[in-house]
Amino acid sequence: MRTFLFLFSFFWITQINAASRFELMGLDKNRAQLNYMLNCQGCHGKDGRGLGDVPALKGFVGNFLSSNEGRAYLIRVPGSANSPLTDVELAEVVNWIFFTMSDKSLADSFNPLTPEEVQTYRGQPILDAKAERSRLIAKFPIREKLAQ
Ligand code: HEC
Repeated sequence: MRTFLFLFSFFWITQINAASRFELMGLDKNRAQLNYMLNCQGCHGKDGRGLGDVPALKGFVGNFLSSNEGRAYLIRVPGSANSPLTDVELAEVVNWIFFTMSDKSLADSFNPLTPEEVQTYRGQPILDAKAERSRLIAKFPIREKLAQ
């Protein structure tokens, strides 16, 4: 029971930190969620579990932050890069995805994506996203599988 309470409070504190960090960064959660619904949800699903053969963001996406090429991949994928969102809006949506969907795949400390990074990565489109995804995944330690 004590362990459970400890784990629960830890989870709760982590959630609060994630939410307040988002606000501290001056990001607009409601706008991020709306932009996700309009531009991403059709393929990635409401909670990021992925529809059809679209990979789950939920419980996994944070793994890509372990390297610079992984960060770049998150923006270079066609769904991100070709969306009608501005660089500021896209950085905001992807940071919102980290805070709301990555669960344990997100390291305790990480650098959120900046609009400047988004602008750079968008200028480097991926020819074969599936191959790049497999190449990256083979290189990093997987932090957490999808929470069931
Ligand atoms: C038409 C369907 C579609 C839409 C719309 C879409 N995506 Fe994706 N997304 C995919 C697929 C499929 C992949 C896997 C890589 C690939 O094959 O392109 C992916 C991969 C990703 C990844 C990398 C995660 C991983 O595990 O590979 C991120 C981050 C991502 N998308 C974010 C977004 C964001 C943000 C939006 C909205 C602005 C969006 N996507 C819109 C289909 C989509």
